[in-house]
Amino acid sequence: MCGIVGYVGKHKVKDILLDGLKELEYRGYDSAGIAVLQEDNFSLYKAVGKLDNLVQKTADFNPEGFAIGIGHTRWATHGKPTELNAHPHLGESSYVVHNGIIENYQEIKKRLQAEGVRFLSQTDTEVIVHLFEHHLKSEPTPFDAFKKTLGELDGAYAILLVTKSLPDTIFFAKNGSPMIIGLAEENEKYFASSDAPLIGHAKEVVYLGDGDYGYVSPNELKIFDYNNNSVKPTLATLPTSKLSAQKEGFRFFMEKEVYEQSAVISDTFIGRIQDDGIVFEELDPALFDGINEVKFCACGTSYHAALASSYLFERYAKIRTSVEIASELRYKEPLLLKDTLFVVISQSGETADTLETLKMAKKAGLKTLVICNVDNSSMVRLADASILTRAGIEKGVASTKAFATQMSVLWMLSLSIAEQRSTLTTEEIKAQIKALRSVPSCVQVTDELHEKIRRLSKRYLHGHGFFFIGRDVFYPLALEGALKLKEITYLHAEGYPSGEMKHGPIAMADPELFTIALMPKGLLYDKTKSNVEELSARDSTICAISPVEFDKADDFIKTHSHDHYMLEFFEMMVVLQLLAMEISVRLGNDVDMPRNLAKSVTVE
Ligand code: G6P
Repeated sequence: MCGIVGYVGKHKVKDILLDGLKELEYRGYDSAGIAVLQEDNFSLYKAVGKLDNLVQKTADFNPEGFAIGIGHTRWATHGKPTELNAHPHLGESSYVVHNGIIENYQEIKKRLQAEGVRFLSQTDTEVIVHLFEHHLKSEPTPFDAFKKTLGELDGAYAILLVTKSLPDTIFFAKNGSPMIIGLAEENEKYFASSDAPLIGHAKEVVYLGDGDYGYVSPNELKIFDYNNNSVKPTLATLPTSKLSAQKEGFRFFMEKEVYEQSAVISDTFIGRIQDDGIVFEELDPALFDGINEVKFCACGTSYHAALASSYLFERYAKIRTSVEIASELRYKEPLLLKDTLFVVISQSGETADTLETLKMAKKAGLKTLVICNVDNSSMVRLADASILTRAGIEKGVASTKAFATQMSVLWMLSLSIAEQRSTLTTEEIKAQIKALRSVPSCVQVTDELHEKIRRLSKRYLHGHGFFFIGRDVFYPLALEGALKLKEITYLHAEGYPSGEMKHGPIAMADPELFTIALMPKGLLYDKTKSNVEELSARDSTICAISPVEFDKADDFIKTHSHDHYMLEFFEMMVVLQLLAMEISVRLGNDVDMPRNLAKSVTVE
């Protein structure tokens, strides 16, 4: 999703902007651009495709001394990914970058066109800069013109705007899309859509709230809230060491992140798994008082974590549990009752649909909890309570270690509620804790496993589709396996509960239909086996993943026998991640930045 950076100061403006955009690459984008204003001269560079193209275009542009600059990576929403549609967008003497969607842009555009304004792009963003320049003619100051512009925009946005009429100032506004201001020595000011570009530059940061707007110059930082009241900035500190993930010898971030899962799950357990119970110090135990239902809400991979954990919550905590896809919940006029704990799950904490459902739940007076990987993200700041997964920065667009840590937290949480509600005995809790402690070793990738999957992957590059099937928690895992495959191989894949195959999908079975069968020993093995046999009888090509040898399989990936089915779940999760990655590699795809996808989806 679009990323924004900005800078006011006397250091190397071009490098600061490009390095910042590099840190935001993981959000997904299809074009990029920067605009620098120095001594009344604007320099503008844009390029389609990877940031390297922009780096090459700016090779001879090396401004020295004080300047202001804005930069953007664009993930196309309105108009194709072309140079003309890339940001920054130009008026007559001002430039704008924007993340979000201006919903009423067509109406504003028509109005401005009627006055003779010429538009160059197909974007919604371009109206902002023209509307600003329109108001500049009548308003007493550029800031008044900016304020008036914001008053006419509907939708979600993070905006930076620079204008020749105030060449040392950047105007900013945030409403629904992320934006952080960083402050450094020598009066330098930075802007970014997330922490990453600011680490190592800014010592203190201001997390802007929705409705905030204002301006920065070397000597000033002015913030106003949506009621137009001046707000004193709340400064927060950033970690000083650069957490920015490097590939550390792995071919792709995704590969590194799959291998990291053991370590990050261990981190996620620290302090939370104790000998006789589960402890979430960050949670007030009163959070669960009066709660009769848990409602999970999320998108994408996080939704699969929600679905898988709903089995655990009902099974262990004996609490009614429902699961919603955020984009659906938003408009279905849901019944949100106050005895429901509303739990959002999000790697980024910024996904627009999930964030909106959190706002809806809060408005309806529900208690809210977020399970998130990014501290200080919008969701963490908004929810009543938060549990952080400790996966570290995840850069691969296809989520892996974030899912692994979400599942770890959710399993622990189901046990913690079970303890509180006395729905499991002390002995049962202890047995679960013993199993939990084994998760980090279960997800370790051995050379043998990786090599086996690498070799096997060459047999799955064609065909007319994949069915990933499983029962119980292995059904959401099947959905996740299919999603991983779709995301990075662009092959058609579906996840199904194995018992559903005979209700339609089995009609597709033939040798060119690949079934990836999740057949854990510890949960409904015989039931699943019958379903797989039905597919095998109809000549589907079967790749079985199981600790139990299965003679009907064309390919077989042997996993370990474990005492607890959740350990099989985690081990099979790794198998599915590696399988998708190796098929993607063989197809020559960009594993870390697959086409059309964004890491952080900040528009609905
Ligand atoms: C995007 C990403 C997915 C992710 C989903 C939800 O679509 O490409 O990998 O699962 O957003 O993201 P979240 O940050 O809310 O977990």
